Amino acid sequence: MQIGIPRETLQGETRVAATPETVKKYVAAKHTVIVESGAGAASHYDDDAYAQAGATLGDAGQALGAELVLKVRAPDAAERGRMKRGAALAGMLDPYDQAGLAAMAETGLTAFALEAAPRITRAQSLDVLSSQANLAGYKAVLLAANQYGRLFPMMMTAAGTLKAARVVVLGAGVAGLQAIATAKRLGAIVEASDVRPAAKEQIESLGAKFIDVPFETDEEREIAQGTGGYARPMPAAWMARQAALVSQRCAQADIVISTALIPGRPAPVLISEDTVRAMKPGSVIVDLAVERGGNCPLSEKDKVVEKHGVSLIGYGNLPALVPTDASALYARNLLDFLKLITNAEGALAIQQDDEIVKACMVCADGKVLRSA
Ligand code: NAI
Repeated sequence: MQIGIPRETLQGETRVAATPETVKKYVAAKHTVIVESGAGAASHYDDDAYAQAGATLGDAGQALGAELVLKVRAPDAAERGRMKRGAALAGMLDPYDQAGLAAMAETGLTAFALEAAPRITRAQSLDVLSSQANLAGYKAVLLAANQYGRLFPMMMTAAGTLKAARVVVLGAGVAGLQAIATAKRLGAIVEASDVRPAAKEQIESLGAKFIDVPFETDEEREIAQGTGGYARPMPAAWMARQAALVSQRCAQADIVISTALIPGRPAPVLISEDTVRAMKPGSVIVDLAVERGGNCPLSEKDKVVEKHGVSLIGYGNLPALVPTDASALYARNLLDFLKLITNAEGALAIQQDDEIVKACMVCADGKVLRSA
């Protein structure tokens, strides 16, 4: 089958959906691969490397006109206009964006949004949310360290002792756990909060302190378990107790990395303006939830702003700041997913009954297959 790899056109998107490594594997699996010239440039994969891996270099129209198109982001109107009716598309297509899905359905695409894969063991190797969130968590800490006017580790020098930075991580999923590990490696004192009880042990195993907001009712305990590995919105009473404790912990902190998300909903507000006001001058907040409205209402998407003496870093696409590794992992996620929709002869063969395929298939035959 013909696989097309166009260059991403969304502003700031530096990643690419296939690397020379995965192209080589597609070619070995009897596919032909058309890579748009320059598609990997922002990720530091050059055209020669793709050609050596067996790809044909082409223009945007040729890459988007393939039978199966692999992308990082959902195609915009101009890109959809160059795609063939009936073509297949796989990428991070935002399965909660109903208007976007409707547009893809209208184009007649059979589209697979990999973010919708279930959190089961078999899906781990194609889990794009995990592969990208892990890098975002790492980069968030480095951005904070860069912005912060002090150091992370405790340091004893002839001129005096420097205190270790105190880091609070809100949301200890994939990004949060990596942020904890990275901040620990840099020598910070770390504490973290999450609603899911399972997170406590994971936080502690990384050497951080768990910010415990005890459950007071069976309802709170039950909701906190989440569904399918994801959090659910907590009752207002628990959120209020958490807010009070988080505010107290943030006031003592130098750095806050917030990653709390609930799939398909606006991000929970965990850091109020009053909390920011109570923080020390020179503190740094990195709000990884900014694309979903933010965990802090003061953070601004794709900007670094200073409010009440606190820097708020609101970059919406942190994996794009480590594009070489982000693309390498994402491309491998796609390679694994393609095994579920192609056969040994290199043809499209969608395993309709597979639960991963079913969950990811968001449009087919002109219809949206997923409701909000
Ligand atoms: P996410 O990106 O949807 O959310 C980030 C974190 O925010 C989650 O841990 C969530 O519990 C937390 N959160 C939500 N509301 C909060 C609040 N009010 N206060 C504090 N924290 C709040 O989640 P992510 O990172 O995609 O993964 C969630 C879980 O799924 C993780 O435990 C991860 O280990 C697990 N997972 C399991 C996989 C599997 O195959 N079994 C694969 C990938 C992840």
